[in-house]
Amino acid sequence: MRRSFAASRCRSRVVTGARLVARTVRGIESILADEIQASGLGTVEHEGHREVWFQHLGPGPRVLDLRCADDVFVFGAVVHGVDRTKASLRVLAAAAEAVPVRDLQALRETLGGPRQPMSLDVSASFLGRRNFNRYDVEDAVGAPLAARADVPYHSRRAGVAPPHEGMSWRVTVDGDRALLGLRIGPGPLHRRSYRRITRAGSVHPPLAAALVRLAEPFTGARVLDPCCGVGTIPIEAAAAGGAMSIIGSDHDRVAIRAAKANGEGTSISWVTADAGSLPLAHRSVDLVVTNPPWNRQVPPAGLLADHPTRFWRELRRVLQPQGRAAVLLPDADDHLVDATKAGLTTHDRRLVSVFGAHPEIVVLQPS
Ligand SMILES: C[S@@+](CC[C@H](N)C(=O)[O-])C[C@H]1O[C@@H](n2cnc3c(N)ncnc32)[C@H](O)[C@@H]1O
Repeated sequence: MRRSFAASRCRSRVVTGARLVARTVRGIESILADEIQASGLGTVEHEGHREVWFQHLGPGPRVLDLRCADDVFVFGAVVHGVDRTKASLRVLAAAAEAVPVRDLQALRETLGGPRQPMSLDVSASFLGRRNFNRYDVEDAVGAPLAARADVPYHSRRAGVAPPHEGMSWRVTVDGDRALLGLRIGPGPLHRRSYRRITRAGSVHPPLAAALVRLAEPFTGARVLDPCCGVGTIPIEAAAAGGAMSIIGSDHDRVAIRAAKANGEGTSISWVTADAGSLPLAHRSVDLVVTNPPWNRQVPPAGLLADHPTRFWRELRRVLQPQGRAAVLLPDADDHLVDATKAGLTTHDRRLVSVFGAHPEIVVLQPS
C-alpha cells in the first residue's frame, strides 16, 4: 500500500534501510512508479513533485536499469523546517551531520554503485524564493557529509566539475522540506551511453522510455517511430525488453545516420522515409511511438511541411485496428483536431514539463 508523505512527516529523520528515491521529469512520476512496481524492484511509498520514494526489495544492481528515472538515490535524510532564512542552512548542516554516510555508501555499493569514492560533491535545487543560494545549501551539507565519509569535499561554487565517480549527493528543497540523497550510479541515469550523437529536438531519454511504456509494448509487437531523429525512442523501445520488431524512420538522411550509430548493436531497422508517405502496408504496425516535428526546434519537412495532416492520416493507415500510438505533442489541442479527423481517438493525455517546455503525452487508438 502506498503511504502518504504526510504519514511519515517529522522534523528531521535519518533512514538507514534500503529506501530509495528516483527523480524524473515532471508529469511522468506515476509512469516511473509503475515501472518500479512492475519490475519488482520495490514498493512505492510516495509520489511527489518529480520524485518517487520506494522501498527496494532486494540486493542487486537492477535499480540502475530504471529507464523512466533521471536518477536514483539512496535516501539520506528528510529535513523539515527549511524556511527562506539563512538559519535554514544550520538546520540542513545539523541534519547532514547525523547522516550515516558510510553505511549508505556500503548500501550504494550493493546496488551497483562505485566503490571507494575519493571525493564528495553536492548538487542542490529548490522551489520558491530563499535568502540563500544553491551553493550555500551545497556547502552547508557538503562539509559535514564529507567529514563523515572521511573524503575531501568538492564545492561546485567555483564552477569546476567534481571528480568522476565521487560520492555525489543531491539536495532538493520543496516548501519547508529538504531531501538529501546519495546518487547510486557513477553518473545520472538519464545520461545514456548509447547517445553519442544528439540533434535539435532529441527527446530526453527517460521521457522516451515513458512514451514507450504508455504504448504498452508486448512481445512480437511491430513498433514504429516515423520521425525518429537520432533514434532515442526506438532504442528505448529495444531496451524495454521483449522480442519486438522495431522500425525507426526519418525524412532526414543525416538523422538516420546518427540513429544507426547510436543504435549500434540493436536489431532496429532504420529507414529514410517521409512520415507523410510511409513505405509500410496498411494495418501493419501495432504501436507508434514518436515526437513529431511540431515543436519550435524542428520544423516539419518534406510532405509534412505543406501538409502536416498527412502525418495523422499515415499513422492511422499503418496502425492495426487494435493498435496504439503514444505521441509527444506541444499545443496538443491544435493537433488533436487533425488526429480526430484522421480517425484516431484520444485515450490519455498527460502534461509534462521538460527543460522549460510543457508538451503533452497523448495516447491514441483507431476510432
Ligand atoms: C522532434 S524531432 C524527433 C527527435 C527524436 N525523437 C530524437 O530523439 O532525436 C522530429 C524529427 O522529425 C523529422 N522530420 C521532419 N519532417 C519529417 C517528415 N516529413 N517525415 C519524417 N520525419 C520528419 C526531423 O528530421 C526530426 O528528426
